[in-house]
Amino acid sequence: MKKAISPELGRAAMRALFIERSPLGPLKVMAKHVGRFFQIPLPMFKPYVVFGPEAVRKVLVTERHKVLWRNTDPVTDLLDRGVLIVDGDEHDHYRKLMEPPLHPARLADYTQMMISQTDRVTSQWRDNETVDMLIESRKIALLIIMQTLFSRDAWDDLPHIWNPILKAIEYISPGAWIIWRNMPRFGFRKPLKELDDYLFGIISDRRQKIEDRLSPTVHGQNDLLQHLIDAGLTDKVIRDQMLTMLIAGHDTSTALLAWVFALLGLHPETLKQVINEVDTTDKPQLLDHVIKESLRLYPPIHIGNRRIAEEMDFDGDKVPKDERLFYSIYLTHRDPEIWENAEDFCPERFAHGRKTPPMSYIPFGGGPRSCIGAALGQAEARIVMTRLLQTFNFEPVNPFQIHPHMGATLEPHPGVMMKVKRRTVISNQ
Ligand code: HEM
Repeated sequence: MKKAISPELGRAAMRALFIERSPLGPLKVMAKHVGRFFQIPLPMFKPYVVFGPEAVRKVLVTERHKVLWRNTDPVTDLLDRGVLIVDGDEHDHYRKLMEPPLHPARLADYTQMMISQTDRVTSQWRDNETVDMLIESRKIALLIIMQTLFSRDAWDDLPHIWNPILKAIEYISPGAWIIWRNMPRFGFRKPLKELDDYLFGIISDRRQKIEDRLSPTVHGQNDLLQHLIDAGLTDKVIRDQMLTMLIAGHDTSTALLAWVFALLGLHPETLKQVINEVDTTDKPQLLDHVIKESLRLYPPIHIGNRRIAEEMDFDGDKVPKDERLFYSIYLTHRDPEIWENAEDFCPERFAHGRKTPPMSYIPFGGGPRSCIGAALGQAEARIVMTRLLQTFNFEPVNPFQIHPHMGATLEPHPGVMMKVKRRTVISNQ
């Protein structure tokens, strides 16, 4: 049952905030001392938090009719009718339209392009230069998502869209608006308008190409943009889906790639083994386990955000209608009742098949609204990591300074600095 939060617990939470430099610290304190159900006691912001397989299954599967994805917050302001934040038939309609180009069977179509886009970014690196893998990963992920979903080679666009995209991400990241919902927010109007103009430009180019019968296909198949246009959606609704997919599809992959580098930087033995593996095999198993373990320890989307449409009950603890509920992926992934040595980096835990209960490993959510890009995101991480490790040596510069930061995703801050040097022998995929 729900426990009152004592002053001692409040102090422990504050200490954890200070030590871990992130709200993840206090969340762990609450989880440890209160349990799998608690309420965050902030002024004007008191969301309920649940974690663990039973609660997660309720939210994502068995009682999902009691929750809404749509809230009133900056995410909704920015993405409006985007598939991520609409409910019911409207959601199902958009989701169905966007599934075919993201189907696992299509992934092979994108492999070579992912390698080329990775090479394009690394072609700018100079030997012994220190690069920030958080930034470099974002470049790679942006080029890949633009090409995969909209058949847009965004290389020349990067300098123009970089700041607008970062501003869009900042706009939806947690901030003081959580407590002061209608606070004035300056500096966003112009870059967000530039991003809109860019997306509307891509839509009108495509409509023109369709008129001229020049619409692009990948191996004879339509891309996501073409599916949206063919369905007869308005430019505005297409823009909402494009911006949703652009952000959801690259900010997550950016965080994942950067975390994999951060963790390999802390574990040089594993890094050595992974390099050996990508040099000698076509199907790198250890790399796969490292990616999985990275998603467990630092899930880019660390919580799912819901609004309660009908009172919910978690083992006697109630969440009333209209309240905000978070299901915590982060806490589920670090629950010591489920995971042995939950706080440790241990890729081998994935080596012998799954031993944890269903809904205890949920980096892509679960149920009918699980991540639409899960297969793409995992393939991308594998392909990009393999290519990077085959072509460059990476020497970590700041491994012990890195800590998680809660932006729109969970990111490694202050960045993942790596000294890079091109390898003399370049092996092929
Ligand atoms: C490593 C990469 C990725 C991670 C960790 C990730 C994680 C997630 C998670 C946890 C959810 C569920 C959130 C919830 O229950 O509230 C989700 C949903 C979603 N993701 Fe991803 N994602 C990734 C890549 C992608 C990619 C590549 C795309 C697009 C191409 C994408 C598009 C979406 C969309 C549209 C949804 C909402 C689905 C719906 O509501 O029907 N994601 N993602």
